[in-house]
Amino acid sequence: MVRIVRHQRFSDVTFLWEVEAPAVARAAQPGQFVMVRLHDGSERVPLTVADYDRDAGTVTVVVQALGKTTREMRDHYRAGDSFADFVGPLGLAQHVERVGHVALIGGGLGVAPVYPQLRAFKAAGNRTTGIMGFRSKDLVFWEDRFAAECDRLEICTDDGSYGRPGLVTAALEELIATDPPDLVVAIGPLVMMRACAETTRKHGIKTMVSLNTIMVDGTGMCGSCRVTVGGEVRFACVEGPDFDGHQVDFTELITRQGRFRREESEANAAFDH
Ligand code: FES
Repeated sequence: MVRIVRHQRFSDVTFLWEVEAPAVARAAQPGQFVMVRLHDGSERVPLTVADYDRDAGTVTVVVQALGKTTREMRDHYRAGDSFADFVGPLGLAQHVERVGHVALIGGGLGVAPVYPQLRAFKAAGNRTTGIMGFRSKDLVFWEDRFAAECDRLEICTDDGSYGRPGLVTAALEELIATDPPDLVVAIGPLVMMRACAETTRKHGIKTMVSLNTIMVDGTGMCGSCRVTVGGEVRFACVEGPDFDGHQVDFTELITRQGRFRREESEANAAFDH
């Protein structure tokens, strides 16, 4: 069993779990993910590592309670409670090197996983710009942590209730016009990552995206996480989750992601009763 040492709520939907997992904490690298299973019979949920503390032996994940299992995590588990499995780290680490100016873009679910990548790019000697997008002010979290690793940080809100109003892509366009980055890392909803990749494509700026595909086993066996990259089928769980955003077939991926929507909403409705 795996123990939760901290459960922190950022908003109605977003919360943090810090769990005791010394082996994962020792091995985790930016860009990798873990598979969480709460108990017998519960589905496995892939979650990107948002932070790790090798000394304390803990790993942090930030979760949005949008599906049945993530809502169960939010509502039924507290600090001190234990759950069945926390398997990882899985996937390949992001390739981090000194390239000059790196812009890291996070949106929604992708904001937390940007953090370890930002820290690593900064530690590698890069100048860093962070652009973090939230729907509204009450969903903003970790602004202080991002600010500590960014040479420049822009918080955007869709409804204009905090920071810069509008989408992260508008902030990215402006950055490219005034202080072009050498590398962009974008993590968030597929439509956001696609928009970022299209924004940078015309300027020839390399853009890495982290694909939150549907994962079942997370070990390259089931094929559920497949994605077409550069015309070839790749398995995001073992060959990703980070890929060159200009090579990803986002249109196909967005269509595939929709295939479990009915089952997800049925499971969600059942959880409500
Ligand atoms: Fe099954 Fe990747 S999740 S092959």
